[in-house]
Amino acid sequence: MHISTTSWRKALAAGAVGLAILAGAAVLPTSVTQAQGGPPDWSGNDFWMPGWMRHRMWRHSRDPEMRARRERHWTFMHGGIPDAYESARSKIKVDKEAIAAGGKLYAENCASCHGKTGDGDGQAGKSLTPSPALLSFLIERPISVDPYLLWTISEGGKQFGTDMPAFKDKLSRDEIWKIVAYMRAGFPKVVEEAK
Ligand code: HEC
Repeated sequence: MHISTTSWRKALAAGAVGLAILAGAAVLPTSVTQAQGGPPDWSGNDFWMPGWMRHRMWRHSRDPEMRARRERHWTFMHGGIPDAYESARSKIKVDKEAIAAGGKLYAENCASCHGKTGDGDGQAGKSLTPSPALLSFLIERPISVDPYLLWTISEGGKQFGTDMPAFKDKLSRDEIWKIVAYMRAGFPKVVEEAK
């Protein structure tokens, strides 16, 4: 008698769970429809990415653009870069002059694709797939350590089939570090002053 009461209770509990699931399922289609109506409103979140960029960088994972970016990041995170880059660290003195020099080099070599302030909106980059990275965003991500930036800027995107040029024969290492310093300084307006 005692046993059957227990199983009855169990059955009741299971029924309640089942009902809850059914109720959930009934609610679900509505929320799915809402989600399909447009991107979710994340305005309350940590918002380091403008909406269009979130869309561009994080859209469906099978997207070829996203794949090229992921491959680059994945390769780096799995130690797939030459040791010479892995152990490289910037040794330049980061001061106003270095940042200004970096800004000038950036304007001459990078802005055409990556945009004046690193927002990926340079004229020459408009037709490229994958599109030029949003450097203003990237530079604040944890991946933007010295070896990653030096490797990427030196070797370019050949390995990943992208249009990012290799600068190892065009810029000296110190010049690359100056560009890095400029980007880390937040892409200040230095070019007008330098002119
Ligand atoms: C011809 C256009 C072009 C020019 C010029 C260019 N880039 Fe790029 N860059 C790209 C494209 C396209 C990508 C995205 C594909 C990739 O990651 O390879 C990219 C990616 C990058 C990345 C990697 C971003 C990530 O997602 O991790 C960095 C860093 C970068 N560029 C820095 C620079 C710097 C610094 C310069 C100037 C010295 C420069 N680029 C010049 C087109 C360009």
